[in-house]
Amino acid sequence: MHTQGVPKIACIGAGNVGATAAQYCLEMGLGNVVLVDIVEGLPQGKALDMTEAGPIRNYSVTCTGTNDYADIAGADLVIVTAGLPRKPGMTRLDLLEKNGRIISGICGQIKQHAPDAIVIIVTNPLDVMVYLAYKTLGFPNNRVLGMAGCLDSARMRAFVAMELSVSMTNVDTMVLGSHGDAMVPLPQYTTVSGIPITQLMAQERIAAIIARTRDGGGEIVRLLKTGSAFYAPAAGAVRMAQSILRDERQVLPCAAYLNGEYGLNDIYMGVPCLLGRSGVENVVELKLTEQETAALHHSACEVQEGMEGLRQLGLI
Ligand code: APR
Repeated sequence: MHTQGVPKIACIGAGNVGATAAQYCLEMGLGNVVLVDIVEGLPQGKALDMTEAGPIRNYSVTCTGTNDYADIAGADLVIVTAGLPRKPGMTRLDLLEKNGRIISGICGQIKQHAPDAIVIIVTNPLDVMVYLAYKTLGFPNNRVLGMAGCLDSARMRAFVAMELSVSMTNVDTMVLGSHGDAMVPLPQYTTVSGIPITQLMAQERIAAIIARTRDGGGEIVRLLKTGSAFYAPAAGAVRMAQSILRDERQVLPCAAYLNGEYGLNDIYMGVPCLLGRSGVENVVELKLTEQETAALHHSACEVQEGMEGLRQLGLI
């Protein structure tokens, strides 16, 4: 197969999110995918299965599975989804330690085998894991970013569209801050074909949609009973990958390194980013109300607590 000039995408973690991200990349022809996992046979089996779907789905790109990080050599973009979900009885700190050690190990491998890649982290707790990745990789901050805002915004867009019975593609929104209870959905930047939702919906309906967005991950976990969301998280990561690899320069909410923007320093958190071929080309500073700024800073405090946890564990 002729693959010259086709981007190489490594998906680390061949679980629900990683394999779904790989599938979306293949369906879009975004690049040749290498699926990596520590479980023997899992990435190979899923990659072969996806390859066998190719003749029907008309892929123009390839998918291979491996347990060997050397196979990510030359990757243009790496999507990291490896890690554990939080299980009953597990504290936030337990999860931080378990996933922290996984992310730290994986980033050591990326640094060695794909030193020029742009890295998108999806593993939770998101904002803290991206900061750890940034510190471990030692890459410039434009090449290390996290996926959460695309997911949270997509959920809010879907809820607004469902409420108003309009096309989801007409709805735009921005959800900033950390990925979790302290996320900051912005109704003033939520529109239907440019019409602010404040003109289309009663305040209490907007409040209900914001609450449902905040609980978006939890709602899926309660329905599934085992496991957590993966279609929308994978779609969020691939949307970012698309804007980067195709140099589309889309403005998307992503966890990005802040260096004074929004009055925050040396932290990763959800903000609108212009994504192009060099990764985060620019952080867009929106005009926020005092209340929204306070909510964003509260969100930052939560992330800083997690960063402190990483320090205590000796991971950074
Ligand atoms: N290298 C590669 N793969 C690893 C490693 C590692 N060091 N450690 C764990 N994995 C793999 C597991 O073997 C598993 O196949 O990561 C995969 C995780 O898949 P799932 O358990 O299905 O989890 P998933 O639903 O995909 O979520 C992964 O994304 O959205 C977040 O909160 C979610 O942190 C979680 C992550």
